Amino acid sequence: MTLETPNTTNFPSDVTEYTAPLPVPDLPSKLLMDLQEGYCNLKCPKCLVHGSDDIEAIKAIRGYMSLEDARKILDEVMVANPLVQPTLWSEPLLARDFRQHITDMKERGIAVALNTNGLLLTEEIAQFFVDIKLDSLFISIDATTQETLKKVRGVDKLEQIQEAVFRMVRVRGDAAYPRIGVSFAFEKENQQEHDEFVSYWVKYVDVVRVNQVYEGGRWQRIPMPENRVPCQAIYHTMAIHHDGDVSVCCLDGFKETNLGNVVKEGVKSVWLGEEFQKVRYYHETGQYDRIPFCKNCNVWANYIYEEEIQANLLIRRSPGMTYYNSIERLSGWEGGLLGGHAPHFRNGLLEAKVLSAD
Ligand SMILES: C[S@@+](CC[C@H](N)C(=O)[O-])C[C@H]1O[C@@H](n2cnc3c(N)ncnc32)[C@H](O)[C@@H]1O
Ligand code: SF4
Ligand code: SF4
Repeated sequence: MTLETPNTTNFPSDVTEYTAPLPVPDLPSKLLMDLQEGYCNLKCPKCLVHGSDDIEAIKAIRGYMSLEDARKILDEVMVANPLVQPTLWSEPLLARDFRQHITDMKERGIAVALNTNGLLLTEEIAQFFVDIKLDSLFISIDATTQETLKKVRGVDKLEQIQEAVFRMVRVRGDAAYPRIGVSFAFEKENQQEHDEFVSYWVKYVDVVRVNQVYEGGRWQRIPMPENRVPCQAIYHTMAIHHDGDVSVCCLDGFKETNLGNVVKEGVKSVWLGEEFQKVRYYHETGQYDRIPFCKNCNVWANYIYEEEIQANLLIRRSPGMTYYNSIERLSGWEGGLLGGHAPHFRNGLLEAKVLSAD
């Protein structure tokens, strides 16, 4: 995708409300770094990459991030204390040098949050996560029955995945890290199991995440909110593919967008570079149609959330995502996790936050 360069000193005449650019930090506070791309031990139908029948397109994005390239990126960003999620649309436990990559991140004081399908979560890996103090680990399950799992994840290994969660919980014990969560991607095929999934898993893990499925450029079940605002993702998060190419956000699994390459150009120069600034400019001036990838997207509404306290749960909801956080386990929640919003305390008491995009 190529974007027309805006003239930043002389804005187009049809832009009447543009006053000043929104502030952009020197470096992203969150990095999605795909340690490997194009390989997975599952083929979930909903997956933006592996759900595709276009095998050539999947082959075209395949590759592994080298330790050298990853270290170059980490060395540059560590000063900003970012959160790193080492995956986009792949299974991170299949990455080459996986443990060394995670060790490199933690040695630089970087918080690491991982999503996995759990199939490779052995006792040894679970112990590694505890020893390295991995910050957060989500295991994707999406079902309470074998039959539904087969439909939504294409596999009949429910027991194996559930055992992986219990293994992780047992090995972690009372240690603070990792924060352990399970996730449920809500779709037509599993909607009837949603309530049971949440009420079962909140008893065992620190957090249960429910998210809408993104398909055809948007969350299909969520109406487009009326007043569109610039997407927070482009002010906080950088999505980096295994070869250093940067996409506009995590949703671009097949690299339809290209805002630069951090291995060749450096993180800061891509983050504050012309292509990224153009995207921000078009968002700030309401010209979403100038960025085809963002045009019909409603995922930006995810950054507007509200909270509720119910019994022992802090429930955080945005239009497409709900987190059921166990209040007893909030101590392992760094501000950088779960979208960058720390829990709110007043006079030592947990407080629910009502409708906020901060
Ligand atoms: C892309 S996966 C990558 C990590 C790992 N392979 C896994 O499945 O957890 C990250 C998360 O995205 C979810 N997911 C997959 N396809 C999705 C879609 N189309 N919309 C929203 N979430 C999706 C998965 O269920 C998983 O929880
Ligand atoms: S396990 Fe994760 S990466 Fe693999 S196909 Fe499923 S959602 Fe995609
Ligand atoms: S508007 Fe949607 S596609 Fe565009 S950056 Fe935000 S989340 Fe990504």
